[in-house]
Amino acid sequence: MIRVGIVGCGNIFTMHATSCVHLPMAKLVGVCDIKKDRADRAAKKYGVQAYYDYKELIDKEKIDAVHICVPHYLHPIISRYALERGVHVLCEKPMSIELADAEYNVRLAEEKGLKYGIIFQCRFNDTAKLVKENLENGKLGKVISARVVLTWCKPDSYYSLSDWKGTWEKEGGGVVIDQAIHSIDLANWFIADEPVSVQAHLSNRGHSIMEVDDTGEGFIRYKNGATLSFWAMNNYGCDEPIEIRLLCEKGKVVMSYDEAKITFDDGEVLSIEQTPDGIEYEGGKDYWGFQHIREIEDFYRAVEENGEPFISGKEALKIQKLICAIYESGKKKEGIIL
Ligand SMILES: NC(=O)c1ccc[n+]([C@@H]2O[C@H](COP(=O)([O-])OP(=O)(O)OC[C@H]3O[C@@H](n4cnc5c(N)ncnc54)[C@H](O)[C@@H]3O)[C@@H](O)[C@H]2O)c1
Repeated sequence: MIRVGIVGCGNIFTMHATSCVHLPMAKLVGVCDIKKDRADRAAKKYGVQAYYDYKELIDKEKIDAVHICVPHYLHPIISRYALERGVHVLCEKPMSIELADAEYNVRLAEEKGLKYGIIFQCRFNDTAKLVKENLENGKLGKVISARVVLTWCKPDSYYSLSDWKGTWEKEGGGVVIDQAIHSIDLANWFIADEPVSVQAHLSNRGHSIMEVDDTGEGFIRYKNGATLSFWAMNNYGCDEPIEIRLLCEKGKVVMSYDEAKITFDDGEVLSIEQTPDGIEYEGGKDYWGFQHIREIEDFYRAVEENGEPFISGKEALKIQKLICAIYESGKKKEGIIL
């Protein structure tokens, strides 16, 4: 049994805790939050020990793996603490705010022979898998152009009720690093080539209450000539499904997280809908999808079998580099050559 601890008992905690207790190879043994009431409530619900300091959870509970579900600026700090003490790490996206911190922990995990996984659960959607399969088996050919659109709704209260969202210091950005990171990651994964230049524009158009981007737009060029264009904003009136479109050498893709349609140039059409897995995630939000459990299971398997997690730190560095380049370009107001 893999002994698991979870640090951070806020919104996303439910996806991690519920997944952990449903998976036979793991046992949740402790939870931690600096907000005592949150840690106590979670501990009571799962019948485990509550901690208010992550160092104590890691040092006292003899855990094999820790899930990190805290504000962004703490991701590399807690990951490093755990890795230095021989504990496998599964961290929520993004790996860090600064690229160097993420790179440091990837090296540390390798040196220590530990598993370091980063949550990008959308890659486990059936929709994304179908598209990736048809790119990898050559039926679609290579991606020529990708387009990502995200129009979501984050009212002022989303920021005012949080002590870290909407700040450069603790969130590290806004709509791009927090929300659009998933769909930009999918498009980047589909293109599967090296980005060579990034031009991005970031602005805050509708949330004077906070300081980071609520709108991001950009254009990324890849070594093989492919391009990725994105537009993301949190000023819409509701959370519309994200849309990813791919123009490929032998067909086109239109997808959201829940549906995908592939139209090949020879007329063949493949489509798929994502169906929920039947597990109840108390307080879970539809737009997170229900794939955390698939990634968490994959991570635990890697721990058990000494394999590589599907989304390792090394793999997640690809999107981390891109996100950091988008912010660099947006802040400098100029294109970045990678
Ligand atoms: N994969 C997804 O789809 C998805 C969805 C939502 C959130 N997330 C990610 O999950 C992470 C947490 O987001 P959230 O929405 O749950 O935030 P949240 O604010 O609801 O929860 C974070 C929790 O961490 C606690 N915390 C802060 N500092 C701590 C410390 N030093 N030690 C222990 N606990 C501490 C806070 O008290 C809070 O309860 C973020 O990285 C976010 O981007 C991912």
